[in-house]
Amino acid sequence: MNAIETHDLCKSFHGIYAVENLNLTVPEGAIYGFIGENGSGKSTTEKLICGLLVPTHGKIKLYGKPYRNPAERAQIGTLIEDPACFPGSTVYQNMMMQALNLDVKDPEDEIARVLDLVQMTEHADKKFGKCSLGMKQRIGIAQALLGHPKLLVLDEPINGLDTEGCRIVRETLQYINREEGVTILITSHILDELSKIATHYGIIKEGRLIQQIRAEQMSERCRDHILVRTANDMKAFGFLRRQFETETSESGIKVYGEPDSMKISAMLMEEQIPVVQLETKRIGLEEYYIGIMEEARSA
Ligand SMILES: Nc1ncnc2c1ncn2[C@@H]1O[C@H](COP(=O)(O)OP(=O)(O)OP(=O)(O)O)[C@@H](O)[C@H]1O
Ligand SMILES: [Mg+2]
Repeated sequence: MNAIETHDLCKSFHGIYAVENLNLTVPEGAIYGFIGENGSGKSTTEKLICGLLVPTHGKIKLYGKPYRNPAERAQIGTLIEDPACFPGSTVYQNMMMQALNLDVKDPEDEIARVLDLVQMTEHADKKFGKCSLGMKQRIGIAQALLGHPKLLVLDEPINGLDTEGCRIVRETLQYINREEGVTILITSHILDELSKIATHYGIIKEGRLIQQIRAEQMSERCRDHILVRTANDMKAFGFLRRQFETETSESGIKVYGEPDSMKISAMLMEEQIPVVQLETKRIGLEEYYIGIMEEARSA
């Protein structure tokens, strides 16, 4: 079952498409990292999914049902842009207002649970306006978690967090995903942090989805390797493939399995194949994303 499906989803503002024919699939239980440049349509898509905006065209399904179904909508917890809080009221009072708005059962217990999850219990009596940016982000996440939602939609929840704040949010999201089976759709520009938790990725550019990929599939494509270019790549490939797991690519021959680059160089010299370039490549989400964006630009 998919938690979210969008079918040819479109949203235009004053005749300009912010989201265009978007087909997003978020499987139940996923932590779906939704990434793209500024203005590419991530927040707009999330607002459409949460019912904060109405699509110009296309369909959204939550757990197989239309998103307008109130029972389905009630199962979404959201943090899109800043949390809606009163600066003059305390963290606890703001939590209570939101709990009452959402008609959460046993609000006192529920507030204690979510504040504990994001490690904000000790700041419950602080005025919201006096909280740091990182604290405000965590309060927003706590509000999104009220009432045990099945699906969380978060827009840049780790923006502005320090290392410790990032760790708390990461562990909270991993915990509710693992222990409570909560599906999470999350946007972030902090790709290194996102790659620690995401199970799936969607890459959006100018309102269009350019790639949707499982994290394992991405790691497969991103495997560390040594890139070799020689004066005779055909001969080098024939030779190297007998010793290592090897693949040809536009940029050169890729040798996998963490072999020693000095050893490869010596072996090729012995075969009298002059080496032009030999480089150890370590590829993370960031490099992968940059590569995909470059491909999309030149397409
Ligand atoms: N309410 C609105 N009225 C007019 N244009 C809008 C509105 N909301 C968004 N847009 C436009 O839609 C496009 C997509 O914006 P969106 O906020 O979804 O991007 P984003 O991917 O979330 O960017 P960022 O990474 O900066 O948060 C932008 O060109 C933006 O100016
Ligand atoms: Mg945004």
